[in-house]
Amino acid sequence: MIKLEEPSVELFPAYREFVLEMLARGETVWNPYTPSENENPAEFVERILRRKENPEPPLVAETVYWPIFDGSVVGRISLRHTLNDNLRKMGGHIGYEVRPSFRRRGFATEMLRQILLTPKAREIGDLMLTCAPDNIASNRTILANGGILTQTIYVESIGADRNHYWIRLR
Ligand SMILES: CC(C)(COP(=O)(O)OP(=O)(O)OC[C@H]1O[C@@H](n2cnc3c(N)ncnc32)[C@H](O)[C@@H]1OP(=O)(O)O)[C@@H](O)C(=O)NCCC(=O)NCCS
Repeated sequence: MIKLEEPSVELFPAYREFVLEMLARGETVWNPYTPSENENPAEFVERILRRKENPEPPLVAETVYWPIFDGSVVGRISLRHTLNDNLRKMGGHIGYEVRPSFRRRGFATEMLRQILLTPKAREIGDLMLTCAPDNIASNRTILANGGILTQTIYVESIGADRNHYWIRLR
């Protein structure tokens, strides 16, 4: 069973393994979730935790979790507390990745299930998730957690389509 933990200096070495494996496999880790070369673990963790209360505009507040399985950080999942215009087109309330060597073991499905149980997710109530129509794994992850596909739109800024799902917790 995985456990969602908020970032901490203690977990930083395990998180670094996740980032290094993603980058080595040519996968994307969004800049705000990547420690920079001249940043020490405490500064990096503090930068992520600050996003929960005081995000730098135009970013919205978000809670970031590092899912732990058997001492390893197997991915990253974030809950955005509100939507802005960009997130309404692409991004939605929840974003996630699973470390390549831990994929196809149900971790994404479980991470999403657990984040939906958090008080903040229940307070938001109606959660939007987006993903590429051809991202089979992510579409299935969302569907397995009660996602309802409401539309597929063309997103001009990336020149690609995105499926829009809603998960209603109320
Ligand atoms: C999408 C992602 C998070 C899925 O992680 P995961 O832990 O492998 O997912 P799960 O094991 O929970 O699998 C979820 C479902 O997708 C299916 N699946 C997983 N990988 C698949 C693949 N490569 N091809 C087809 N189906 C796949 C699983 O069989 C499962 O389906 P089921 O519930 O019908 O059995 C992971 O592939 C990833 O990190 N991708 C890159 C980042 C990304 O796409 N993030 C989401 C952006 S919207």
